Amino acid sequence: MLNAPSAIDPGLFGPFNGRTWLNAAHQGPLPRAAAEMAHEMVAQKQAPATLPDESFFELPARLRASLGRLIGAPADEVILANSTSYGLDLLAHGLDLKAGDEVLLVDGDFPATITPWLILGPLGVRVRRLTPERRPLSAEQVARQITPATRVLCCSWAFSFTGETIDTAAIGQVCRQRQVTFVLNGSQAVGAQPVDVSAMGMDALVSCGFKWLCGPYATGFCWLTPKLRERQAYRQAYWLTQMHGTDLSVEIPDSIRNHQHAEQYDVFCTANFLNFAPWLASIELLLGIGIGHIAAHDQRLVQQIIDAIQGTSWRLVSPARPDERSTPVLLEHDDQAVTQATAHALAKQGIDIAQRAGRLRFAPHLYNTPAEIENAMEIVIAQTPA
Ligand SMILES: Cc1ncc(COP(=O)(O)O)c(C=O)c1O
Repeated sequence: MLNAPSAIDPGLFGPFNGRTWLNAAHQGPLPRAAAEMAHEMVAQKQAPATLPDESFFELPARLRASLGRLIGAPADEVILANSTSYGLDLLAHGLDLKAGDEVLLVDGDFPATITPWLILGPLGVRVRRLTPERRPLSAEQVARQITPATRVLCCSWAFSFTGETIDTAAIGQVCRQRQVTFVLNGSQAVGAQPVDVSAMGMDALVSCGFKWLCGPYATGFCWLTPKLRERQAYRQAYWLTQMHGTDLSVEIPDSIRNHQHAEQYDVFCTANFLNFAPWLASIELLLGIGIGHIAAHDQRLVQQIIDAIQGTSWRLVSPARPDERSTPVLLEHDDQAVTQATAHALAKQGIDIAQRAGRLRFAPHLYNTPAEIENAMEIVIAQTPA
């Protein structure tokens, strides 16, 4: 299998200047097509006469449509954002939580999933973190942890520090039965795993665009079920979303035109050409290859990492089971000196991974090849005491 040609052309990305990037869980690299688009957008900004008025409307519309395709939702249910946090902040303000209500979070989750809810503490809302009894967190434990006060469960789909993926459909079912709003942070999975919001069981999905979706930094999106959107206590009326047609001459409406539409909640300045045009190019590239195809490719590389440490003193922190793991793979060693020496040796050989909580995190994606993983794991094994 190692010699089989990769079905995904690694030349769509780079140049990586001789290095191997195994850290999509931190930042996904811009594909070449997106980098070209970024250059085009810079040129337009240098000579603004080349920027047509209509593009202020067309770019957000095209991005919304692509994101809709990506997550299996109608385009008009997609909120354009600049981060994961944008959607979480919107919900923390918009869910109209009151003193005595409870937001349930998960211990060990990424800080971005936790901190937006902390603003509710001074209002008397209890923000409680449950500790998973096993990993991945089970729907059965969620059912036991929900109390009559629980209004929201918010957690990651794939966990940054452990690499596990939760069963969103099972947890979503428990939440639905108990009338708890289920908010899912998809930042460590969207782009690496197929998404179908109607089958996955959550009420809200938030994600950044700069990891597995390979967009520029400061990109993201949010999706809410129409029912949840209608419940939002918070409203916005950004002028570009209130205009009729694609004419920039100011015809100010008397009332909010689209207060039931997702676009009402878009981050301001959605015609963010320098970021959103390249991001759109990245998403279109990924969709063209097929997210299912990318997931299969990535998971083959993940399996290669798991297989390579069998019988060694490295411990797999992430679950081994394909239905419980994600694309970040976390490895742990009892001896921190071995961990440090391995990280150092990888970096020296031009292989970029992350160190998180004393563990090594490998995060391969579509531009990586089996040969790169083989090389990386040979370095890991060479640093491992017999
Ligand atoms: C799970 C998770 N959520 C969110 C983020 C980033 O949040 P934001 O897009 O708001 O900066 C990260 C990583 O940086 C992450 O790992």
